[in-house]
Amino acid sequence: MPEITLPLRTERLVLRRFEGRDLDTFHAYHSLPETARFLPGPAKSYTKSMESVGKYANFSFDKEGDWICLAIEAADGPGLLGEVVLKWVPGRGQAEVGWTLAPEARGQGYGSEAAAAVLDLGFGELAFHRIEARLDALNTASAALCERLGMRLEARHVDKWHYKGEWATELVYAILADEWHSR
Ligand SMILES: CC(C)(COP(=O)(O)OP(=O)(O)OC[C@H]1O[C@@H](n2cnc3c(N)ncnc32)[C@H](O)[C@@H]1OP(=O)(O)O)[C@@H](O)C(=O)NCCC(=O)NCCS
Repeated sequence: MPEITLPLRTERLVLRRFEGRDLDTFHAYHSLPETARFLPGPAKSYTKSMESVGKYANFSFDKEGDWICLAIEAADGPGLLGEVVLKWVPGRGQAEVGWTLAPEARGQGYGSEAAAAVLDLGFGELAFHRIEARLDALNTASAALCERLGMRLEARHVDKWHYKGEWATELVYAILADEWHSR
């Protein structure tokens, strides 16, 4: 894998490596049950937030299973708006994308804009062939984001997960490098 050139810049956003100063804002939105509803674990304790920010600040991306988690910030002012993730999954040229925004940053297209920058990175510099997103079928905001990116709904796995005390149906969205470049 080539070195990843950071930060990534979009019209309104800067995507950069996490830093220690992001901890309090990160914790403010990750400690909310509303944020955690469709994420694997419970709302984060302060200790869990510290662990996550420490891990994200020091990521390396050298082999299958590694992932990049980038802090999203407005180009015109500092302050963490959320994060976007790219995971290198097993298999030739395969990756997975994910996203979380602080509640006050939602509804403005920041998630789509940040995710598009990460797809540019994934299909450009990192030369992945296919990038997918896996989400709970009840997570309509996340499905809408996939649709805005032009990702294709490829699978609906009924009761694939059991978390948050109930069965959940998984949706798989995906897009190929050629499709992304010719959109
Ligand atoms: C999933 C999540 C990131 C989606 O956030 P979002 O703000 O709805 O998504 P976007 O950033 O793409 O913004 C789209 C919204 O902004 C609006 N918008 C405003 N200006 C816009 C612009 N310039 N460009 C695009 N959309 C814009 C869109 O109309 C849309 O609003 P709507 O939902 O009322 O139709 C957010 O709900 C979240 O963080 N959830 C909790 C964590 C989570 O579940 N993560 C995913 C796990 S799979």
